[in-house]
Amino acid sequence: MRISHALLALLVCAIVLAAAPLAAEENAAGGEMKSLGAKTFAQPCPVWVIGSYDAAGKPNVMTASWAAICNSQPPMVTVSLRKATYTYGNIMESKAFTVNIPSERFVKEAAYFGSVSGKDVDKFAASGLTAVKSALVNAPYVKEFPLVIECKLVKTIELGLHTMFIGEIVDVKAAESVLGANGIPDVTKLKPFIFAPGNADFYSIGASIGSGTEREKGPKK
Ligand SMILES: Cc1cc2nc3c(=O)[nH]c(=O)nc-3n(C[C@H](O)[C@H](O)[C@H](O)COP(=O)(O)O)c2cc1C
Repeated sequence: MRISHALLALLVCAIVLAAAPLAAEENAAGGEMKSLGAKTFAQPCPVWVIGSYDAAGKPNVMTASWAAICNSQPPMVTVSLRKATYTYGNIMESKAFTVNIPSERFVKEAAYFGSVSGKDVDKFAASGLTAVKSALVNAPYVKEFPLVIECKLVKTIELGLHTMFIGEIVDVKAAESVLGANGIPDVTKLKPFIFAPGNADFYSIGASIGSGTEREKGPKK
């Protein structure tokens, strides 16, 4: 009798364990989750324009979306570049770069900076935008863009197709017009836009839908 109880318990466990992956593959609405494979579909990504100098001192800009803040103290950013880009060699040599955050009105420039290489063209001359030499790091920034982050290279990590560049933020410069009352860049004034890996389209950012500090109160049941 005891043995049959134990067998029954084992059977119940086996059924529960077998059902567990099915439950995990259902989303909150009860629909089935579809596997899309190992892809770079972390949505959305930022649209940054990376500024650098080549060996001759020519300023260059390229669009990058494999990018993020990666440390708070000291403040750091990361951007992953393919060796084929002109920017890769530039930053390896100069050990510095800028992150230029375009507002929506520069969407065409961002697409252009991401489709041609500084090896072939002078992207500043072609776009009519102005390169300003940073006083703090050996890299140019885009004068017309409302938010600029000046970085010195602290580390590179080989990942595969991309090399991850980690830069320490030396200064952030913002146009007064994009600052909120608290003196911090206000995303609704800045109007940055985002990139959707997959369909490769740009999207605007909508209105605030809540405060990030609400988490302390816990989610509503
Ligand atoms: C929205 C967007 C995001 C991009 N993100 C990256 C990226 O994160 N890393 C990368 O190596 N190339 C990225 N590219 C491609 C480069 O911007 C492109 O190869 C560019 O021509 C390189 O410029 P350069 O050769 O002057 O450095 C992106 C392109 C676009 C349009």
